[in-house]
Amino acid sequence: VLKRTPLIAGNWKMNLDHLQAIAFVQKLAWSLSDAKHDFSTVEVAIFPPFTDLRSVQTLVSADKLEIAYGGQDVSAHDSGAYTGEISGQFLSQLDCGYVIVGHSERRTLHGETDEDVAAKVKAAIKHGLVPIICVGETADDLEKHGQSAVPVAQLKVALEGLKADADVVVAYEPVWAIGSGQAATPEQAETVGAALRAVVAESLSADAAAATRILYGGSVNSGNIAGFMREPNVDGALVGGASLDIAEFAAIVRYQK
Ligand code: G3P
Repeated sequence: VLKRTPLIAGNWKMNLDHLQAIAFVQKLAWSLSDAKHDFSTVEVAIFPPFTDLRSVQTLVSADKLEIAYGGQDVSAHDSGAYTGEISGQFLSQLDCGYVIVGHSERRTLHGETDEDVAAKVKAAIKHGLVPIICVGETADDLEKHGQSAVPVAQLKVALEGLKADADVVVAYEPVWAIGSGQAATPEQAETVGAALRAVVAESLSADAAAATRILYGGSVNSGNIAGFMREPNVDGALVGGASLDIAEFAAIVRYQK
């Protein structure tokens, strides 16, 4: 069995400008080195707004920080008349390792469909980025279809046509748990995590399923992270609000201590 390195990812959403980002990353790196964080046991990634990425790249490369980063979205297109969009090539030129795709706020506020998300996943992979594919059910879906049906269906579409060894991360983010202070239980995250891993096995391969990190997201904080991380099918977290507080985010990264 392949060992999966846990991934703690901070999605800043539309918070912190490029100057605040520099101060934040410096303090975060200091706080983790101070706590003697071993980056080989838990990987840390941050997702700042696009306008911060160049500053983050400069700082991470100058100080050789072991903090990965990426965009919060990517265009399905390579270049051209797509006002307001950012291509995967631009992100990989800034040394981004990852990109978030299909976040529920993109799906809800910007009408992204499962097919749009699938096209973005392909664009990310084409440009050497690892997509963090977000899936999750609304409160209404939960009532009508139970917990796993909608995330499973979303992931199936997102993985269509990918190679058997595609490198992806999946984030299970129940919409009702995002920013609500009401996280799913570790048992709920495990149930859906296992169902999503089965989709990866079916759509890609057994090897990919063993290697793919499945994150939980939705009201994660330093108090509940350890419970999620004890579950065999939860390999990390996608953290929103709590990733904007350095001490809190550092405590989430150090969940084992
Ligand atoms: O992408 C992470 C996010 O949607 C979860 O947000 O604030 O509930 O941790 P939050």
